[in-house]
Amino acid sequence: MASVEFSEIGHTYAGVGRSTRALDGVELSVAQGEPVSIIGPSGCGKSTLLLLAAGMLTASTGSVQVDGQAANGPRKTTALILQDFGLLPWKTVLANAALGLQVRGVARRDRRELSMRSLALVGLAEFADAYPGELSGGMRQRLGLARAIALDADLLLMDEPLSSLDALTREDLQDLLLELWRTRGHASLLVTHSIAEAVFLGRRVVVVSPRPGRITAIVDNPGMGMPNHRMTEEFFRKVTEVRELLVAEGALHQAGEVL
Ligand SMILES: Nc1ncnc2c1ncn2[C@@H]1O[C@H](COP(=O)(O)OP(=O)(O)O)[C@@H](O)[C@H]1O
Ligand SMILES: [Mg+2]
Repeated sequence: MASVEFSEIGHTYAGVGRSTRALDGVELSVAQGEPVSIIGPSGCGKSTLLLLAAGMLTASTGSVQVDGQAANGPRKTTALILQDFGLLPWKTVLANAALGLQVRGVARRDRRELSMRSLALVGLAEFADAYPGELSGGMRQRLGLARAIALDADLLLMDEPLSSLDALTREDLQDLLLELWRTRGHASLLVTHSIAEAVFLGRRVVVVSPRPGRITAIVDNPGMGMPNHRMTEEFFRKVTEVRELLVAEGALHQAGEVL
């Protein structure tokens, strides 16, 4: 099981003639099995944080550990889920679900079994032989999740995975993410621009400042996962609390998603 530890992270992207300070002094510990949401304005370094945790980028200063090991390369049971799903249109749904396993060298027969099981978990078993082009946006995102589940990932890094979906499909997928977390108990880092989504899916909500990204607040959200959470007063209170923090840092001027 994976925990994540960001220690004194600073990151600067070097460019031709200019450099961009993306992150500054970021300290964050995510416990094993803990679901954490990250919210902040565009360009504040949220994607950079996920790339660091995925071992795809090395921080200019500080260190990132996953499960007690330096995150300096790919890790078998870390899954990175992006908005554009990374699906291969010429491969079937089943082959796409199996892609992560294939990259990790799992034998063909095991790949098939694990992928079929994960497709069933996300409600796509009957589409195993279809192609991504035949799926709706919501189904394609389910397929992206199936790929992560097939790996038996203990750490899900999600970069605005639901932001291209319509509101109802999005809630449906949020419910699925919650259900998967309940049954599987993975740690997760979810980057989102939606305050409601952050509160629905994060046991803690991390608020990041405009560039260079620093953590300005961490909101405890113990009601996360409670029955009918979206309809509770507790939920509205937390949404308001996060909204006020974003307004205070100038990331949000009015009701709606974070700029
Ligand atoms: N590969 C890169 N080269 C140069 N600058 C980058 C690169 N990736 C991101 N940046 C810059 O670093 C800052 C943080 O980027 P990012 O982590 O993508 O922010 P966010 O995901 O919060 O929108 C932005 O100003 C962005 O333009
Ligand atoms: Mg981003």
